[in-house]
Amino acid sequence: MLQGKTLVISGGTRGIGRAIVLAFAKEGIDIAFTYNANGELATQQAAELEKEFGIKARAYPLNILQPEEYKTVFEAIDKDFDRVDFFISNAIISGRAVVGGYTKFMKLKPKGINNIFTATVNAFVVGAQEAAKRMEKVGGGSIISLSSTGNLVYIENYSGHGTCKAAVEAMVRYAATELGEKGIRVNAVSGGPIETDALRAFTNYEEVKDKTAELSPLNRMGKPEDMAGACVFLCSEKSSWVTGHTLVIDGGTTFK
Ligand SMILES: NC(=O)c1ccc[n+]([C@@H]2O[C@H](COP(=O)([O-])OP(=O)(O)OC[C@H]3O[C@@H](n4cnc5c(N)ncnc54)[C@H](OP(=O)(O)O)[C@@H]3O)[C@@H](O)[C@H]2O)c1
Repeated sequence: MLQGKTLVISGGTRGIGRAIVLAFAKEGIDIAFTYNANGELATQQAAELEKEFGIKARAYPLNILQPEEYKTVFEAIDKDFDRVDFFISNAIISGRAVVGGYTKFMKLKPKGINNIFTATVNAFVVGAQEAAKRMEKVGGGSIISLSSTGNLVYIENYSGHGTCKAAVEAMVRYAATELGEKGIRVNAVSGGPIETDALRAFTNYEEVKDKTAELSPLNRMGKPEDMAGACVFLCSEKSSWVTGHTLVIDGGTTFK
């Protein structure tokens, strides 16, 4: 049913993006994914996906701090693929780019917050606009933004990210409302703490890991694969009346 369709996803090399790429490849979906620093790894991963799953897979460079780059990325995708059915805005910045954004409230700086906003909200908007133009041509599609429960519950140093995730969830609802008439559904998948490089970069990683396992009725932290299933569901006909929604995948941690 999903076979022969095409997914475009940002940040497909590592963590949650990589798990999503593998889950969609298993469904026989062709994949265009982006990378930032890991070009060599991405090219190798694309070749492996083609060999292992018999799909078409290609990797493209993208810096989400320059969202307009999406236009060039989609032009390249147009040359390699004949359709776009699904778009997932997954990539996130870390390291120097989040200085002044990933910190305590009193240390926040406009530049750090703006960088996170650009990478989270502006990148979603430009990527989703380009994707929607292509989806319209094939009669519809599904768009997803990754989000985080850090916009609902307190996570130390996460005010910049949490606020931008709240904003992208609002943008998802606006996009869903206006794109529905084109047969395009738009949703967010919001995760509790998931074991990835981004989380391992948290200054209090061990503490977050232990606390998450303690809070979850399932007694463990999230894995990237836990998020991938929700994305496959939201791109399948099984979710045909789900739009403008945030699907929370948190191992039951947010309620406690
Ligand atoms: N981990 C969590 O606990 C958690 C929880 C809830 C939601 N999320 C969300 O899930 C998404 C993925 O997070 P993750 O933990 O999987 O992240 P990650 O492991 O740090 O992976 C980040 C991905 O984004 C790419 N990337 C990094 N900087 C970029 C830039 N400037 N421009 C374009 N791409 C860039 C990386 O590509 P390269 O390999 O080429 O550098 C990589 O593929 C994010 O939206 C995050 O907020 C994460």
